[in-house]
Formats: sequence, C-alpha cells, structure tokens
Amino acid sequence: MLIQKSTPSTIEAARIAAAAFTKAYSEEVYEDVAQHLAEGEVYTIFDGVSLAGFAIFKMTDPETLYLAGIILRPDFQGIGVAETVIKMAQDEAGAKKFMLRTQSPRMWSVGNKLCRSWFPNPNGNLGYWDYSTPWPSGPHFVLHEDKSEILRAFYGGPLYGQKPTHRNRPLQEWWDSICDFERGDAVLCYGEF
Ligand SMILES: CC(C)(COP(=O)(O)OP(=O)(O)OC[C@H]1O[C@@H](n2cnc3c(N)ncnc32)[C@H](O)[C@@H]1OP(=O)(O)O)[C@@H](O)C(=O)NCCC(=O)NCCS
Repeated sequence: MLIQKSTPSTIEAARIAAAAFTKAYSEEVYEDVAQHLAEGEVYTIFDGVSLAGFAIFKMTDPETLYLAGIILRPDFQGIGVAETVIKMAQDEAGAKKFMLRTQSPRMWSVGNKLCRSWFPNPNGNLGYWDYSTPWPSGPHFVLHEDKSEILRAFYGGPLYGQKPTHRNRPLQEWWDSICDFERGDAVLCYGEF
C-alpha cells in the first residue's frame, strides 16, 4: 500500500465512493466527490496497481485538523488504513485536535482510537439549545467540555445505500440513540490527539 499527497481522478474516486457508500454510481455521486476533492489537501491510497481510497483534510484553526472526507474501497476497510492516513495528515500539519462529521459509528470509532479525548462518547454529555436567550438572537447552542454536536437531518436522508453498523452492540445502540440514520442526522465529532 502506498499513501501520498495527490488528487485522484474524479471519475475513479467517484466509482470508489459509490462502492464505499453502497450506492449506485450516479452524476450526483460524481458531483459530490468533485466538490469534496476541492475542499482541502487530498491524500491518495494506492494498492500498488490502482486506487484504494482517498482522504481530504483541512485545518479549521491552527490546531485543529478537520477530516472533510474519507473513502476506502470496501476491501480496504476494517484494517486500520484510516488511522494511518489521519496520522500522516496530523504529523504534516502539526495538529493537536481532530474533528470530523459522520453518520457512521465506524468512523466515530476511528477518532476514538486516535484521540485521548473524543466527543461525543457514551459516557459524555451532549450540548443543548438554550431557549432562555432572548429573541431576536434566538437560542444558542451551549457546549459542555467539547465541541461535538448532533446535526439533525443534515444530509436530508441516509447517506449510505446500506446502513454502516458496528459489531459492538452497546456502541451501536448508543450511536442510534444520538444519530437517526433515516432522518439523515450527522454527528460532529471532536477531540484531542
Ligand atoms: C469509515 C472508514 C473510513 C473507516 O476506516 P477504516 O480504515 O476502515 O477504519 P478501521 O479499520 O479502524 O475500522 C473502524 C471500525 O469499523 C469497523 N469496520 C470498518 N469497516 C468495516 C466493514 N466494512 N464492515 C464491518 N466493520 C467495519 C472495524 O471493525 C473497526 O472496528 P473497531 O471500532 O472495533 O476497531 C471506512 O470503513 C470507509 O471508507 N467506509 C465507507 C465510507 C465512509 O463511511 N466514509 C466516512 C464518511 S464520514
């Protein structure tokens, strides 16, 4: 396996994205991938012969590495490739904090393995909307010790053709309690490396 900073061809990347999201290839997938590839620094993963995946990163502040997207070919999933590429980007940027947005407990788990603190988590508290704030500023979101948030209906529906689940049942149950897959919720995860 070879990981390098480079941008794959959009069509190849979109084919992998469709397979990774268990969806049919479509123009919508192509457009979405094209948009993501333009969002930040792209790392490409090769299996020696062809494209095995890619990841896009950007710094949201001088300390925080944001994973704007990561797609691994199905046969490259579940073997720790995400951790390797995120560590490369972390080293390169000198990042101390990490952030991502996802609907998948598998992705949540990657951050949980990489970070010494990772929010939200089954033992933590979520933020809340404070309705005591007077209008017109409206209710503001109050965070606890973390910057994680649940983004309700963010994707407007399931992002995946087939729901990605985690084999750890309690973890899956907790995830389902905060992230409604069918509604298209997304979870903004945040932590310190
Ligand atoms: C989500 C993704 C980036 C994670 O990267 P990865 O290198 O596979 O991560 P890991 O190997 O560390 O796996 C993370 C966990 O998910 C599980 N997992 C990953 N892929 C899996 C699969 N295809 N089937 C079942 N479980 C899987 C692993 O067993 C692991 O469990 P653990 O928490 O007990 O360690 C990758 O699986 C992927 O590309 N998925 C499809 C696209 C996607 O969801 N992208 C993220 C969008 S935000």
